[in-house]
Parts: sequence; structure tokens; C-alpha cells
Amino acid sequence: MKILIRSGQIVSDGRSFQGDILIENEKIVAVDKKIAKADGMDRVIDAAGFEIFPGGVDPHVHLELETSRGISGDDFESGSRAALAGGTTTILDFVTPGRGESPLAALAARKAAARKSLCDYGLHMSVTSVDGGLGSELDSCRRHEGIVSLKTYLAYKETIGLDDAEFLAVLDLARKLNLLVMVHAESGDMVSYLQKKLLEQGKISARYHGLSRPPEVEGDAVGRALLMARLAGVPLYIVHVSSRQGVEAVAAARQAGQTVIGETCPQYLLLDESRYQGGDELAAAHVMSPPLRAREHQAALWEALGQGLLQTLATDHCPFTLAEKKKFAAVDFTRIPNGCGGIEYRLSLLYSFGVKSGKISLAKFVDLVSTRPAKIFGLYPRKGTIRTGSDADLVIWDPQNKKVISAARQWQSVDHTVYEGLQLVGSPHLVFSRGVPVFENETIQVEPGRGNYLARDWGRGNDGHRG
Ligand code: URP
Ligand code: ZN
Repeated sequence: MKILIRSGQIVSDGRSFQGDILIENEKIVAVDKKIAKADGMDRVIDAAGFEIFPGGVDPHVHLELETSRGISGDDFESGSRAALAGGTTTILDFVTPGRGESPLAALAARKAAARKSLCDYGLHMSVTSVDGGLGSELDSCRRHEGIVSLKTYLAYKETIGLDDAEFLAVLDLARKLNLLVMVHAESGDMVSYLQKKLLEQGKISARYHGLSRPPEVEGDAVGRALLMARLAGVPLYIVHVSSRQGVEAVAAARQAGQTVIGETCPQYLLLDESRYQGGDELAAAHVMSPPLRAREHQAALWEALGQGLLQTLATDHCPFTLAEKKKFAAVDFTRIPNGCGGIEYRLSLLYSFGVKSGKISLAKFVDLVSTRPAKIFGLYPRKGTIRTGSDADLVIWDPQNKKVISAARQWQSVDHTVYEGLQLVGSPHLVFSRGVPVFENETIQVEPGRGNYLARDWGRGNDGHRG
């Protein structure tokens, strides 16, 4: 298949120019201001008036995640379909072995579940316990499966979280094996103490979730995690930074010369803690960790995006049905499943509320949603860029199209959305994944299972994780 895309505004790698893109089978074979040859094309697309971005890379999603509170809403089929409809062509999910379970065995099971994905996908390996065999298993994951990133939790100590000694051991292994450590930075002991105290005081309903995980708990964990990364001599990736305190800890480490990468999510940029004050059910729908914050934190996060202190925008997509959310809303906030959905809306939300409102440039937008995560996680230049030789993952973007978010119309397979009613300006018009138009005329045109598993590595010019 040969496809020529004509006269779009191409935005990639910090440049923006009007030009043409030639696709042959799965790859981009030419990008230029004008590509002369239109003969022998299977299709020619006039993209005048549209912007063209590299397909989005969402570096942090949880599809069909098994938690102690149930399995998260979207599976690899519905979640990847929603991703494509929103302009995200690559997702990075997680393997989460139970304590004592072999990472390689857990990886095999997770890959089997992910096989139905419509879009390309990679996996980070979570470390939930540390034993003598961990190093050799992680080494195998890296060598044979292209897993270059680890996920660790300083929260959730009872189930998957690590203590300081374990976290340090993981950082040391990461240095030896050249792996990037990602950390969910909330101090678990503080959270457990505050949860217990609130429950004892009779503050049991969903509205108290936020009080059990105040911003100081994030600031403390980010600072301590970075201190330990400094001791170990490794870069650190902080997932879902949600607060001014988290940003300040990242900034302090950067100033001291440390390599730190910060991620945030649309929910922390756009929603605030007032969602916890509108009744138990509304509050429960917004239970996520870290929780939504006071509005002042949003300004700190936007500023950090502008300054490059936060370098990626992920969704932490992890929705549950309203029934699951509501079950313990009135009686025990600690038993409400954590997380919300957003895989479909990441690009449109940042475009509408970041680019259109003048908070960030279009080049920064593309970097945050695609190029930077591709570089950091060993996918660049295969993904995250529009250039000859790259996978033809492209989003032809309608910069004027207006939509109102509604659970009734979404691709995400959940019965609500925390973004209900938000007005979007800008959305995907046509999405290509490896040369195939997978989303066009508001319909998905690809079958489950087309997504490829992505073995990853850091190559030449692909050192996003180093700073
Ligand atoms: O509340 C959240 N973030 N749920 C998803 C699981 C996690 O913590 O990453
Ligand atoms: Zn997460």
C-alpha cells in the first residue's frame, strides 16, 4: 500500500511546516515540503487545513488490571480501541507479578492478555518484592523481551509496595542492567497511618480519600525516592506528579544536577478536590491515587510542563464501573478501587486546555504526548516522530472540531467519565497505525489483535531517559 498525504501542517521534533508524507506499507518513506510523485498511489489524502502529529504514546495505562479491589474496566481490546480513537497509537502497560511470582511467568501471562490489543503496546515490569533471583529474571526480560523499564510503588505497602531497602536494591539492579526505574511516589506508611486515623474518627466516606494522601505525602516520597536514586547513581522517572510539593522536589533534584523525569496526567491539570465534596458517589468516582488536589496545584503543574520539569503526559488509565466505585463509597473509602479513565481524551484535553488556551506551544504538546515518552522508553525513532524510516503512526488532526465529552458516546468501555461535559476543541480526523488508517469518519477500522508487542531499547539519539 502506498499512501500520499498532501499539504498538512506537520509538527514533529520541534519543527512545524506544511508538507507531504509518503507511506509505503507500514513505514514513512518520505517527508518533504512537496513530494512530486503521485502516480501509483493507492490513496492520496488532502490534509490542507489539518495538523499532522506522530501517533500518541501513552506511557502509563492499566488495562484489565487485577487489583485487590477488582479488575479495572477497559481490557486490552476496548482500551486500545479508545486509545486509537483519541490519537494514541502506542500504549505502555504494566506486568505486575504477585509477591514471590516469577517476573518472566507474569510477563508471559500479561502478553497473552495483551494480544487482543488493536494498537501497538509495550510493557513495564513492576517489582513488587525483591529476592535473589530477581536480577537474572530482569536481565532475561531486558535481553529477550525488550523490557527496559521497571515500575515501583512506595504506596500500597500491604500488597505491591516496596520498603526503602527493597527500593534501593531495585535501583542498584537498574544501574547494573541499564533499566529505567519508574516510581509511584506516595509515602505508604504515612498513608496507612492517616487512613487508620480518619476511619477511627468516623471519617469513613469517599470524601475523606484526599485527606489520607495530602500533597506533603507526595512531596516527601518524591524527595526521598530521588535521594535514594542519587545514592544509587541512576535516573528516576516519577509517575503522575500531582502537586506543587511533588514539582518542588523534582525541581530541587534537577537543580542539584540529578536526572529526573516527571510525568503528570490530565486529571491533575484539569480537575480539583471539589469533586470530593459533592456527595459520596461523585466523590467515589474520583477516588484515585494520588488524589485530586486544591486548584492552586494545577498552576504549579502547568508551569512545570512549560519549564520542562514535567516531561510527559500520561493517563494512568484505570477505570472502574460506577457500581464498583459506589459499593464502599459511604462506608469505607479505603476499599474503593483506585483510578479513573482517560486514554481516549489525553490528546484532545491537552490540546484544548493547553495549546488552545496558550499555556503550551504545539511543539511542546507533541513532545509531551508522543516524542518524549517514545524517547524515554526506548521507542524512538520507531515511534514518536514523523521521519523517513519511522513507523507510519500518524494523527491527522482537525484543529477546529468541537466535541463535548460524554460517557454515552465514548469508546472507553466504562459507564462514566470524570471529564463528562468538558468542551474539547481539536480532535483526530484520521489516525494511522503502521500505515493503516485505523480511525476514520469516527469509526474504528481495525480488528483486535493487530497491535504488535514492542520490544524496546535505547539506541543512538534515543537517550530521553538520561535527561
Ligand atoms: O489510582 C490510581 N492511580 N490507580 C491506578 C493504579 C496505580 O496506582 O497506578
Ligand atoms: Zn498507574
